[in-house]
Amino acid sequence: MSRFDLTCYNTLRLSASADQGIKITQREQLLTLIEKRPQAPLLVMGEGSNMVFASEQVSGIALLMRLTGVRQVAQTRHTVTWRVAAGESWHGLVQTSLCAGLCGLENLSLIPGTVGAAPVQNIGAYGVELSERVVQVEVMERESGAVRFLTPDACQFGYRSSLFKAPEGASYIILSVDVRLDRYHPTRYRPQLGYGQLASRVAAFQAGGLALTPSTVSRAVMAIRREKLPDPNRLPNVGSFFKNPTVSRAHYERLRRRYSTLVAYPVPQQAEHYKLAAGWLIEQAGLKGYRMGPVAVHKQQALVLVNCAQEPTSGAAVGRKAVCRGRDLLALAEHIQAVVMDQYGVALEVEPKVVV
Ligand code: EPU
Repeated sequence: MSRFDLTCYNTLRLSASADQGIKITQREQLLTLIEKRPQAPLLVMGEGSNMVFASEQVSGIALLMRLTGVRQVAQTRHTVTWRVAAGESWHGLVQTSLCAGLCGLENLSLIPGTVGAAPVQNIGAYGVELSERVVQVEVMERESGAVRFLTPDACQFGYRSSLFKAPEGASYIILSVDVRLDRYHPTRYRPQLGYGQLASRVAAFQAGGLALTPSTVSRAVMAIRREKLPDPNRLPNVGSFFKNPTVSRAHYERLRRRYSTLVAYPVPQQAEHYKLAAGWLIEQAGLKGYRMGPVAVHKQQALVLVNCAQEPTSGAAVGRKAVCRGRDLLALAEHIQAVVMDQYGVALEVEPKVVV
């Protein structure tokens, strides 16, 4: 039987294939699969926007999660809760909520991927994390097909992490996510503008005549992201490739003495610890734009690794399709980790899920 090509189903456009691929549009398909093939390894995929295939041969069945639907399941005077199926587009959800006069997700605009993938890495941007809005996550147990709801505590959300990234979480298939949204009201609205250039970008829109609404904040976030982050449709990538690392105060002070422009923030949840900007570390180590075969460190944002195999300058013979494999990318990641460790004594942790 021919294998299922995954190249078009991951935003890095890595060349890989699975034993089989199934589009899941009905929950019953999952139950049938569990019943008929209980031992088959399953790889649940949204849009493959935070996934790296270490090997070209992925063993098992790729489940392309395409369950759709959004419905209101609770409300109070100031909030509503929506149950959103795992296959819905994340950015689509943000825009639908804004159009419905609801706020809370605007800082998370334009993050690629699906709603079901969002809790896995606890997506975050511009001072907001998904976990602040999650009421519960509906999952199916892979072994039994039983459906359960997990509380935010049970999901063990952390910085770009959750139960679903840990080995214990591998026994669940995410079916839907309940998110709490606030009803927008001009006098009650408290936008979160504390991160980086967000406040100045919003102020510029206001100077241009726009009111301070959730949609304006969303537009500002989108404008910043479009400037800083490469569009995966043009230059394949998975966003940040490394987490921003945390170091002790002593380590931070040592680095600060050597590098006066070091970008670092105290970690509120961890006394005497500092989070360093990995993008800064990589750039200052001279690796911004560094190329290794078909992959490179992005020229504008050193935290993003890109597949440039399809670029005209890649040197691929005319008529031959240039290929980029997970191992090419992981070799570049290891090189960056080694250089950063050598220069700063800091370990960089890979952020996307590596499928081995
Ligand atoms: N910086 C550099 N050089 C670079 C990149 C960044 O010096 O090449 C410096 C910037 O000047 C800034 C600091 O590093 O002072 C932080 O940069 P930025 O605000 O762009 O954010 P980031 O730490 O690089 C994180 C998230 C992004 C998220 C942004 C905004 C992680 C791993 N990444 O990036 O998330 O969009 O903040 O909130 O936490 C993602 O997870 O895929 C992602 C894109």
